[in-house]
Amino acid sequence: MADVVLTDLPADEAEAYPLLLGHIQALLRGERDPVANTANVAALLGRGLRQVNWVGFYFVRGEELVLGPFAGLPACVRIGFGKGVCGTAWAADATQAVADVHAFPGHIACDAASASELVVPVLREGAVVAVIDLDSPSPARFTAEDAAGIEALAAMLSNRV
Ligand code: SME
Repeated sequence: MADVVLTDLPADEAEAYPLLLGHIQALLRGERDPVANTANVAALLGRGLRQVNWVGFYFVRGEELVLGPFAGLPACVRIGFGKGVCGTAWAADATQAVADVHAFPGHIACDAASASELVVPVLREGAVVAVIDLDSPSPARFTAEDAAGIEALAAMLSNRV
């Protein structure tokens, strides 16, 4: 872990994600504990991605999403199916890239600084088991490269959350 130098990530996100995902793959190798893995991934993304004020996981627990490891301010603990951006990503089984959270009906504000958000579901055997949530204080922060990069991460985490 000590040799992961995230400050060296290129500014171009299409180039940065393969490096970031390589770091994460190394970090996950040989470890199956879901809390350990998602905690380290949240910490790594929190350090590695620019203009991100919150990044973390919500796990599907029955009829709700429940807060998992994250980097950022304390957040709401439980989110219902179909509620907010996270619950919508779960219900729709699809990535939600929200350029302006204030224009998203039902958005749940955890950090008042958040202006845009990206939520990607993690699937196992065709079912959503968690979502990865990223918030930014910059409007329209998340690009197609971010969505593709975090979707690749979700695929890597399928059996590790
Ligand atoms: N904004 C999210 C809630 C979680 S926080 O952003 C950490 C939502 O609308 O589901």
